[in-house]
Amino acid sequence: MNIVFDRHRRLRSHPVLRDLVRETRLDVDDLMYPLFVTHDAGRHPVLSMPGVEHLSIDEFRREVNELSELGVNSILLFGLPAIKDDLSSEAYAYDGIVQQAIRAAKEENPRLLVATDVCLCQYNPAGHCGIVHGDHIENDESLELLANTALSHVRAGADLVAPSDMMDGRIAAIRATLDANGYLETPILSYSVKYASSFYGPFREAAHSAPSFGDRKTYQMDPANVREALLEAASDLKEGADMLMVKPALAYMDVIRALREEFSVPVAAYNVSGEYAMIKAASAQGWIDEQAVVMEMLTGMKRAGADILITYFAKDVARYLR
Ligand code: PBG
Repeated sequence: MNIVFDRHRRLRSHPVLRDLVRETRLDVDDLMYPLFVTHDAGRHPVLSMPGVEHLSIDEFRREVNELSELGVNSILLFGLPAIKDDLSSEAYAYDGIVQQAIRAAKEENPRLLVATDVCLCQYNPAGHCGIVHGDHIENDESLELLANTALSHVRAGADLVAPSDMMDGRIAAIRATLDANGYLETPILSYSVKYASSFYGPFREAAHSAPSFGDRKTYQMDPANVREALLEAASDLKEGADMLMVKPALAYMDVIRALREEFSVPVAAYNVSGEYAMIKAASAQGWIDEQAVVMEMLTGMKRAGADILITYFAKDVARYLR
């Protein structure tokens, strides 16, 4: 047969050659590990997220040391407060659980990069990300509380704040507050493109932050939109964000790619709780090869354009990469 065609398989013929021509590589330095801290003693497993636990400050200290042994050098902190009130007071309390954890992390390992989630939903009984009046989530009234929350984290020693509330103007409010207090060099990683997603289900069990009424669709984005993602990101950059985030990641690879192409700042992908839970469940059934699927999924996020991978699999990946 005399036909002409390209031989793509030539470069797949030898494992070393495949390594040489590989375009995307995961690295332990890409990873940020989300952690939940609680006032309760001990470790409490999150049932919908096998391997994820709520940690007391003592257990959290152990975790920080385990992370440094594994080479996971950055964490994203979430807190479970002792009290929830309408003003979300523990979110910005000097001795709030996150503030305590930040100080503990810095005592255990001063070189660990401590990022914090800045939001109110864990801290008020309504379980919404801003102040609630009736059935309305107030935008402008929430900004001061969010900015105070970010400031309290930075005062406790946080290296980086990551607002996830999706109120308009929060980046400007946080930047102005940090600057006014002398924290000119503390970066903001904005959850700029955060969708009203069903993939957060297990997290809401983990963080006890499910809304008591309604949903988050009046502030988080419609999963069908990508042009709007560019608008959100552009506003956040104008307001002072240093890095952008797309959340969730798996169903939003095109959004990661769109941000990567449009902007030059680093882009983070949040591999969220539902994405974690699906893999854990299928793997527990023996239906998928967990390690292979995790590596393929995270490589895909990086290939799509993410620089930072925020994932509950961070410790596993650090072990796989050894
Ligand atoms: C708080 C917040 C949420 C997540 C991160 N920060 C939940 C939400 O917005 O409902 C989700 C993380 C995950 O699912 O892993 N606003």
